[in-house]
Amino acid sequence: MWRDWSTRFNRWRYDLYAPLYDKVAQGFAAARRRSIGLLNPQPNEQVLLLGAGTGLDLDFLVRCRHITAIDIAPAMLAQLRERAAKLGVEVRAEVMDGHQLAFPDASFDAVVLHLVLAVIPDPQACIREVERVLKPGGHVAVFDKFLADRKRAPLWRRAGNLLARAVATDINRRLGDIVAVTQLQRIHDEDAGLGGFFRIALLRK
Ligand SMILES: C[S@@+](CC[C@H](N)C(=O)[O-])C[C@H]1O[C@@H](n2cnc3c(N)ncnc32)[C@H](O)[C@@H]1O
Repeated sequence: MWRDWSTRFNRWRYDLYAPLYDKVAQGFAAARRRSIGLLNPQPNEQVLLLGAGTGLDLDFLVRCRHITAIDIAPAMLAQLRERAAKLGVEVRAEVMDGHQLAFPDASFDAVVLHLVLAVIPDPQACIREVERVLKPGGHVAVFDKFLADRKRAPLWRRAGNLLARAVATDINRRLGDIVAVTQLQRIHDEDAGLGGFFRIALLRK
């Protein structure tokens, strides 16, 4: 129940943020390039952007011919469609809840999770779905804010999280706790800025 309410709240607030989102998020271009570079999706592979937002990742996926993008906020996807048209990239874009993907098992070779695991209300449900829809041997690119595994958040982070969560995102989730509910292997993990506050990771099924 809390998840449904929280998901509705996300839809509402990201629809509200959509016109301004690119101004805030375009500063992450280098991290997107790096993360998608590690993922290295091939032109013929099926790629899923989950919590795709306005499609800022599409700039780095222009070679890919089978891109599916889902997001809970229709206004974000409206911008994604415009971006895709400008780039000449074909994208199947659908409003969908990342906790319950309407795709068969083993549908995708690669999944991009950029700035979504810290936002989606139940990241463990989301990653289970990612594992389900990923083909064996498929990869997941993660870029987000995480607390180091096994670390307790210091006071400033716990206090700051009250505001961060209300406005946009949780800053105290641990990638290890999220991935632990799956069989996905973390094959790469690197500092992506602010002394490890942002991280890029590559997972494999
Ligand atoms: C911080 S934005 C990141 C957008 C994009 N991935 C990027 O890197 O710019 C988080 C996105 O997650 C989406 N989102 C939140 N909850 C979701 C859910 N339950 N299912 C799908 N998308 C969701 C929001 O609508 C928003 O577009």
